[in-house]
Amino acid sequence: MTAWVQGLDGLAFGGDYNPEQWPEEVWATDAALMQQAGVNLVTVGVFAWARIEPRPGALDLDWLDRVLDLLHAHDVRVDLATGTASPPPWLSHRHPEVLPVDERGTRYTFGSRQTWCPSSPVYREHSLRLVETLATRYRDHPALALWHVSNELGCHNSRCYCPVTEAAFRDWLRERYGDLDALNESWGTAFWSQRYGDWEEISAPAVSTAQTNPGQLLDFARFSSDALLAQHVAERDLLHRLSPGVPVTTNFMVTSHIRHMDYFRWAPEQDLVSTDHYVDGRLADPIGELAFSGSLTRGVAGRRPWLLMEHSTSAVNWQPVNYAKVPGEMLRTSLTHVAHGSDGALFFQWRASRAGAERFHSALVPHAGTSSRRWEEVLELGRALKALSDVRGSTVDADVAVLFDYESWWAVDTHSVPSELVHYLDAPRDVHRALRRLGVVADLVHPAADLSRYRVVVVPTLHLCDDALGDRLTHLAGTGVSVVVTYFSGTADQRGHVRLGGYPGAFLELLGVRAQEFFPLAPEQSVRLDDGTTGRIWTEDLDAPGADVVARYTDGPLPGVPAVTRRTVGSGAAWYVATRLDDDGWVRLLSRVTDEAGARPVTAFAGPGLHLVRRRRDQRTWLFALNHGTTEATVQAHGRELLSAQDVAGTLVVPAGGCAVVEERA
Ligand code: GAL
Repeated sequence: MTAWVQGLDGLAFGGDYNPEQWPEEVWATDAALMQQAGVNLVTVGVFAWARIEPRPGALDLDWLDRVLDLLHAHDVRVDLATGTASPPPWLSHRHPEVLPVDERGTRYTFGSRQTWCPSSPVYREHSLRLVETLATRYRDHPALALWHVSNELGCHNSRCYCPVTEAAFRDWLRERYGDLDALNESWGTAFWSQRYGDWEEISAPAVSTAQTNPGQLLDFARFSSDALLAQHVAERDLLHRLSPGVPVTTNFMVTSHIRHMDYFRWAPEQDLVSTDHYVDGRLADPIGELAFSGSLTRGVAGRRPWLLMEHSTSAVNWQPVNYAKVPGEMLRTSLTHVAHGSDGALFFQWRASRAGAERFHSALVPHAGTSSRRWEEVLELGRALKALSDVRGSTVDADVAVLFDYESWWAVDTHSVPSELVHYLDAPRDVHRALRRLGVVADLVHPAADLSRYRVVVVPTLHLCDDALGDRLTHLAGTGVSVVVTYFSGTADQRGHVRLGGYPGAFLELLGVRAQEFFPLAPEQSVRLDDGTTGRIWTEDLDAPGADVVARYTDGPLPGVPAVTRRTVGSGAAWYVATRLDDDGWVRLLSRVTDEAGARPVTAFAGPGLHLVRRRRDQRTWLFALNHGTTEATVQAHGRELLSAQDVAGTLVVPAGGCAVVEERA
């Protein structure tokens, strides 16, 4: 069972509170405003190391005592950060070797944040000393509800190429392979004269003359994720020892522009999975990405509730153009996270900064102060989350699993592949988008997860996988599940070695198809299929000796060749999609697949921008209807709409940009 924030009954509401930025007179106002807004959890001390330890070994904690006492007096629980995210200037001034080095060998300077090498023993020692100080001092403080290790580990320092890192990488490789022969075999060093005869010859894959060895790159990605995880585990172990019983989390960044941490490996080391998410105005479909990240966080958390540790009340400050949230958007986006399994909505940050790198980032208390629309919306969100208190601890209903694998992401979005136009995220996001349009909910889960609860399993661009997955999926299909595999899946094993005998190697038997060659397309090229859909990016010279052909190309490099196939397997089916279908093509295909397999839409509805999700605990269910579209939507529902406290009997109208949560009655 996932731990929950100590002493908190309903959903969490609040955010990062950085009082060290403000004169002490402001703190009392902060606490009173938090109480007014219904804020019940704040994260304190994320960037406070330099304030806590202004000089090596000289501690100043009285101010933090007063902050925690004040928050406690106002019934605000504290997620206390270990403060290790951003070391003070004195650390790198005294020990320049803690600063990370980039892949061209340039050492970073101080002047930003996370200026530390994940493998640095000097950083480790100093950071753990700080953790020990804080844990010992605050373990019995009544405001303490959760420990917050570091902050977004790996946001800026996920890769380091310094000599200390290289030595740690070699140790990690020794542990993994035992001997050099095994490493040489795994990396395929027989080619390009790369055979290693001594461990000391191995370096981190920094910039070289041409393409770096793909096995070396893959292992360095694994190592780098593990190195950061080791920092979390070291801090967590200390906290567990010194402050037993208080849950520990570190905030992940489950979002589509962060891929360096394998959160499926990290999640088992959390007492409570938490994550940060910011709407990305650079994307074509930012809200779709938000929903996708929510589904992925749920999968990372093993389908248990999780906590949205940070998002923004309005604009961020780190995108080229930082779009503000229009009226109603904050409530709707916050509740989209809750719909996907978050037991709360926290923000960066409580009060907008006057100075420093994030002075133009939005906050719960904006620069304009409380006489502002933003503050009114903050109060409204506080009321909404209170009305939804009972949702806490419920899980999300989903009949569809979409397999997701960070290692395949690393292996696909790299050089030396058939087409750099294939982005790992494209296929899972296409599938997730089509399912949303159908009102069908999907979990994004790791390939090794238990898949037995699902009616449909989609395997998008799962480039690396173990040999056993084909058999597992064949068995599932035999029991009535529909399996859908897309292009470039199953091609390689987990070392990145290509399977021989035809593509998609691991799934030849499951799918009853075999491709001899890939035929990737040019950037602007598309091909037509004989069912009226189009494909882009990718085609394959595919035979379907053991499957029915659902659609063929009518033009492009392979006219007449199968593009989509279906094989009956026991009482289920195995589909192959050998090109990147357009959105309508995916909707049509997945409508047929989900129908056949009995994966149902959440409820009947009409409205193009509507997202539907159902959360459930025992006999109680909550239907979340989030209208991200520009026209009114209708939803079939029975029960009580909790935001308006109105009964619903049959049809619920959700205005454009609005949202509703119905506690259902049969
Ligand atoms: C996160 C970070 C916060 C703040 C926020 C701004 O990456 O954890 O400290 O910088 O972004 O959007």
